[in-house]
Amino acid sequence: MKKISINTEFSVFENAQETPQEIQTLLKEAIAIRNKAYAPYSKFKVGAAILLDNGKVVLGSNQENAAYPSGLCAERVAIFQAGSLYPDAKIKTIVVTAAAELNTTTNPIPPCGACRQSIAEYEIRQDAPIEIYFTGEIGDIYKSDSLKNLLPLLFNKNML
Ligand code: THU
Repeated sequence: MKKISINTEFSVFENAQETPQEIQTLLKEAIAIRNKAYAPYSKFKVGAAILLDNGKVVLGSNQENAAYPSGLCAERVAIFQAGSLYPDAKIKTIVVTAAAELNTTTNPIPPCGACRQSIAEYEIRQDAPIEIYFTGEIGDIYKSDSLKNLLPLLFNKNML
């Protein structure tokens, strides 16, 4: 028996002003779409802004449903929209922001497991890393240079 260890790392920005200008713009768009989320059940609103290599920005917010599992996270709303509209474009960056209605979200909110797997599909398909920034309503902004930091040992098509 042997043990392996896998290193994963993130950059931490203390506020939006510390991030590149392009990211500040994306974050503003992510916040605007977050405010339009349909989240009557969880009261937890999430917004995602995706920048493509063709310069287009695609947005998404979480969309809930009375039959709970039928709803969809902001990240997947946005990434499926990007894949639908611009199937040949590469995804450069995803910015995610989340805010609870009942308290102030101070933790950086990362994509859930299902969203990580969905983002992985696009990163593998385009054979180029996707930068992911995630934050709460206030507080630190975390950046991962690739989905792989969020999902080491990811399952992908090369394993089929
Ligand atoms: N949610 C997202 O939109 N993205 C995530 O990565 C975490 C969770 C949504 C799903 C649901 O509408 C609400 O947040 C509470 O889980």
